[in-house]
Amino acid sequence: MKYAVITGASRGIGFDTALQMVQNGYHVLALSRNEDALRQLKEKAGDELDYLKYDLTKTDCRPLIEKLEVYRKVDVLINNAGLLINKAFQELTMEDWDAVFDVNLLGPARLIQQLRPYLEASGAAHIVNIGSMGGFQGSSKFPGLAAYSASKAALANLTECIAEEWKDKGIACNCLALGAVQTEMLAAAFPGFEPPMTSTQMGAYIAHFAANAHHFYNGKVLPVSASTP
Ligand SMILES: NC(=O)c1ccc[n+]([C@@H]2O[C@H](COP(=O)([O-])OP(=O)(O)OC[C@H]3O[C@@H](n4cnc5c(N)ncnc54)[C@H](OP(=O)(O)O)[C@@H]3O)[C@@H](O)[C@H]2O)c1
Repeated sequence: MKYAVITGASRGIGFDTALQMVQNGYHVLALSRNEDALRQLKEKAGDELDYLKYDLTKTDCRPLIEKLEVYRKVDVLINNAGLLINKAFQELTMEDWDAVFDVNLLGPARLIQQLRPYLEASGAAHIVNIGSMGGFQGSSKFPGLAAYSASKAALANLTECIAEEWKDKGIACNCLALGAVQTEMLAAAFPGFEPPMTSTQMGAYIAHFAANAHHFYNGKVLPVSASTP
């Protein structure tokens, strides 16, 4: 059996990626703070999905580790959870910066550290960090997304560093810099904008990438966007 852990599975891209991972034959541990939403995900996904109420900004990982002790390995970790605060740079407070970096950078970093023994036990593990085109060097930038985009750029860089440090441990680490996808996050940030991609379509792509791409890529930050540039 192959095991996957995915954060931000209560809605949007994470919800659909978790469903798709189950359909692709994985046992999935789905994380988020919203237990009701995770219960609904389990109703759709069935026996091969387990869930845990989990706040990425808290450092106590014991409940998570208890679950992983049963699996004994993790083949795929998808750091999908994200926080977007849409505010002009001049208005951003230190609390805003802390909140965004805690969810988008420090949360994934903590989780990757905690999961390291289980990833190593896989022998061929894949960490997929969900970045953003906003954090991709040279991409079009949008007003209001400074903290969000900077945090995603940092996550992309962390991806490259982890890949280098763990390249001999059977753990690959890649980052997908996503373009616009129809979700609550995007609707809140850009009201009225209709993105070309559904979360179901993106979830299917991420699930396929997570299961296969570590044989072809390591330490890569890949734009997933049909827009130009
Ligand atoms: N949608 C887009 O156009 C787009 C474009 C580029 C990149 N992305 C990235 O894709 C990922 C998914 O985005 P989405 O659009 O599906 O977002 P979304 O609908 O807003 O969902 C965000 C997810 O993150 C989780 N989350 C937020 N804070 C958390 C915390 N402190 N602890 C645990 N989980 C937390 C939420 O779970 P709970 O609230 O239930 O805890 C939720 O499941 C994000 O990383 C986002 O930056 C999205």
